[in-house]
Amino acid sequence: MSEWNSISLKKKLSRRDALGTAARVAIGVVVAGAVAGVGGYLAGSSAVAPPSTVTETVTKTATVGAGATVTKTATVTQTAFKTTTVTKPVTITTTVTKSVGAPPAKPLKIGVIGKSVHPYWSVVDKGSVKAGEELKEAGLDITVTFWVPYKEDVPAQLKTMDSYISEGYSGIAVAPSDPDAIIPVIKKALDAKIPVITIDTDAPKSERLAYLGTDNYKAGMAAGKAMLEALEKMGLAKPGGKIAIATGSLTARNSLERIQGFKDVVEPAGYKCLEPVCDYEDAAKALELAASTLAANPDLVGAFGVYAYNGPAWARAVEEAGKVGKIAIVEFDATKENIEPIKAGIIYATIAQRQYFMGYYGVKLLTLMNQWGWESALKFYIPRYPANKIFDTGVDVVKKENLKEYYEEVTARGEPVDWTPD
Ligand code: BGC
Repeated sequence: MSEWNSISLKKKLSRRDALGTAARVAIGVVVAGAVAGVGGYLAGSSAVAPPSTVTETVTKTATVGAGATVTKTATVTQTAFKTTTVTKPVTITTTVTKSVGAPPAKPLKIGVIGKSVHPYWSVVDKGSVKAGEELKEAGLDITVTFWVPYKEDVPAQLKTMDSYISEGYSGIAVAPSDPDAIIPVIKKALDAKIPVITIDTDAPKSERLAYLGTDNYKAGMAAGKAMLEALEKMGLAKPGGKIAIATGSLTARNSLERIQGFKDVVEPAGYKCLEPVCDYEDAAKALELAASTLAANPDLVGAFGVYAYNGPAWARAVEEAGKVGKIAIVEFDATKENIEPIKAGIIYATIAQRQYFMGYYGVKLLTLMNQWGWESALKFYIPRYPANKIFDTGVDVVKKENLKEYYEEVTARGEPVDWTPD
């Protein structure tokens, strides 16, 4: 009998499971124990607001090897994030981790597939590397591979995923640029017993086991609200005012949901959104499109940047056109190039994602699935799984006035930051 640390579920393993699991059970506990004190717990994200605190005490019983019984009980308290304001870090209290048994013999290979080369994705990479390091320290033989195409490239994503399947990866976290095109390859991975989750952007029609990332429709609405506020404060509010939208994808669900959420707020307030322009995650093209859109629409009152480099592209184009203060800009993300124009008063607000945790928890979740079995690990991370399959990492709405506060929060949560608030 040993004391283990985690929330978990009452689960009796079958004899077959138990034999297969004998050596692995203990390591699973170490993995679970490594759940950091951060990460949204806003799964489900729809109409119902999440509780601000979630406490669970559960017992796990597993018959291990030659009839030995191991029981663990733990209490986890999580303070959930709010999605629309700067929030306090999550508090998790766990009992002491104590592992029993030997580490698994099988080396683990986890693959993380992103969408383009950008500092946004470097942060996801850092999150996955950190998770890999922690898991190695806990005794696992694990390799984490992070890959992105240069810019939006659906065939390259599919090909990479296919090669991970042939190489026998232990789990894949993917951000599909096309949620329909990815369906067959996700199925192929699952058929090969490789767990797959989506991060950053979902593919709900696929059989992916869960989505871990921003609630993009709600985040788009937050961007719409920030736009209305900016127009009001800048004295640009006017019925029938035109707002331009620039994005990096016309297929990725995160792009479409953000645009929809944004429109659902600004259009009922009387604004007219132009047809979105798309650069397919090519930063140079984003700049060209921002400049040509401004030139073609001298009466624009607002510009919305859907992906990480769209806000900076709008900012530069607006500056070059001598229109600072005459066009309200709202963007997504919080890399240095997003924050500098906020400091300079060119961009009014950004919807900052917490993509570090998409990488971090993506790797942790897939690893735990290999240790505890898919279902148990998913239940550990995702409240109300399987009815709910979404782990919402949350966002922060950042403006010049709360930049310092945001900086403090984000560094306290352990997210890497490449800028300073002053
Ligand atoms: C999106 C990603 C995108 C990145 C860089 C982010 O806002 O969530 O899907 O790849 O911007 O373009």
